Amino acid sequence: MAFNFLHITDFTSEEILETFEIARKVKAKVKNGEEFTPFKGKTLAMIFAKPSARTRVSFETGMTQLGGHAIFLGPNDIGIGKREAVKDIARVISRYDDFIMARLFDHAHILELAEHSRVPVINGLTDYNHPCQIMADMFTILEHRGHLRDLKIVYIGDGNNITNSWINLAARLPMHLVVSCPKGYEPDRATMEKAQKANLSKIEIIEDPKKAVKDADVVYTDVWASMGQEAEAEARKKIFIPYQVNKELLALAKPGVYAMHCLPAHRGDEITSEVVDGPNSIMFDEAENRMHIQKAIMLKLANVKIP
Ligand code: CP
Ligand code: NVA
Repeated sequence: MAFNFLHITDFTSEEILETFEIARKVKAKVKNGEEFTPFKGKTLAMIFAKPSARTRVSFETGMTQLGGHAIFLGPNDIGIGKREAVKDIARVISRYDDFIMARLFDHAHILELAEHSRVPVINGLTDYNHPCQIMADMFTILEHRGHLRDLKIVYIGDGNNITNSWINLAARLPMHLVVSCPKGYEPDRATMEKAQKANLSKIEIIEDPKKAVKDADVVYTDVWASMGQEAEAEARKKIFIPYQVNKELLALAKPGVYAMHCLPAHRGDEITSEVVDGPNSIMFDEAENRMHIQKAIMLKLANVKIP
């Protein structure tokens, strides 16, 4: 069993499916108003070097629901890697708290944090990946479809941390994953090669978004400039315009296609308001499921059995 959750591939296929099942159970408990507090007396430290709405609120609320407490440490609080070495932060905080969740720029820093922590470290997004998000996404797809068979996911836009996590998931669960991005904005090559070697999913890059969305069950997009790339935002807009997810593009996918976005969305750029607010959108279920799946990830790491 994995000690940390830094990448989707830290979990086996079986562990991923078990985590979905735990999420289903804990979600039902919330909906039924049933208390479930196995983390009484436990504390989660949340380190944020970047802004957040969903990740912060869903982890903190989830921890409260499980009977525990969460501490928010924002960009100006501990100055990870600046005011203090990453490994010293890991050594200190893991003597107080039971879990660490971190949202950092450099992926090497979360690896270092985990290496020196005595308690499990959960990745809340780095420049390289965002595993909690894609676990929530696949759990949402499972809820909506009722199964994960014959699934074609088409990711449109920048080959970024979200894309890399989708590729990692494709190394664990079978799917047909198509990434449609402009030349020069492809996802991480080593991640792609590793997932191809796993030989479980069909993973393709198709530059033309209109061709890519054919027969898609899910069309997924994300911002064109991620946190930390703000200076490139204007230049990227010109390059990415053909990759906007709008009603016309969705019309080329399967009827009833699910439109997904990790949020925050830049309405009018990578996605139109019509799609965000439209009948195909399952984005707010996705956002809600961040909380249920993250509770499940913490319960899985702590090896808590769910009644
Ligand atoms: N999707 C997501 O991680 O949202 P936040 O950046 O608001 O946490
Ligand atoms: N790719 C985006 C995801 C935000 C949840 C970013 O890193 O800013």
